[in-house]
Amino acid sequence: MKLLTFPSSELASQHAFQMIQNALESGTKVFGLATGGTPEQLYALIRESSLDFSQAISINLDEYYGLSPEHPKSYHYYMKQHLFTAKPFKTSYLPDGQNPNVEEETRRYEAIIEQFPIELQILGIGENGHIGFNEPGTPFDSKTSLVSLTESTIQANQRYFSSKEEVPKQAYSMGIGTIMKAKSIILLAFGENKAEAIKGLMSGEITTDNPSSILNQHPDVTIITDEAAASLL
Ligand code: GLP
Repeated sequence: MKLLTFPSSELASQHAFQMIQNALESGTKVFGLATGGTPEQLYALIRESSLDFSQAISINLDEYYGLSPEHPKSYHYYMKQHLFTAKPFKTSYLPDGQNPNVEEETRRYEAIIEQFPIELQILGIGENGHIGFNEPGTPFDSKTSLVSLTESTIQANQRYFSSKEEVPKQAYSMGIGTIMKAKSIILLAFGENKAEAIKGLMSGEITTDNPSSILNQHPDVTIITDEAAASLL
């Protein structure tokens, strides 16, 4: 695992952008994408760039259960707003948060990832170390499933909704085992509230208490942080 720390999230995002540009230019076709506040600057850089993703495929990590693609807080909507309208991919996949048939939806998503193995996965990290929506305690070999959000994640994500009650309590998320199959991974972490999770990840101890810690076993991971997120190292 490689750790790169930059003086600001802007500079860190520029580095991530460079890595994505290099990957695209060297033929990477399948990108795993994340949502949340963390990749927003990265997506802005991509929107403003001349990069062309029209022959590439994107596969997102997760989607809130119960939200329609038109819901302004859904990850479908987020991706359109932050990336896809400006930079359309050949095909973009996200879990269907409105499919109540969990068995069918999780099988459908795993089949997509099997058909298009992810070459470069972008990840954020939760304050408790979650990746995707895989909360502490999730088995490391988990596949795509319907997961319940922890109280701390609901609280952390409440800033995107008008009240805590509005935050969905469940989400479809790619599993940890699914994420680990990506050929290479870039994890972005910005801000002091991520410092504890990054400390756990960088300690090298692999524990389901910090889901991100399994990345220590992946052969090609780059952790990109600002100084605040690396402040406890
Ligand atoms: C969310 C998402 C994750 C994201 C993380 C951090 O709940 N499911 O994919 O990486 O939490 O979010 P943020 O970047 O807004 O801090």
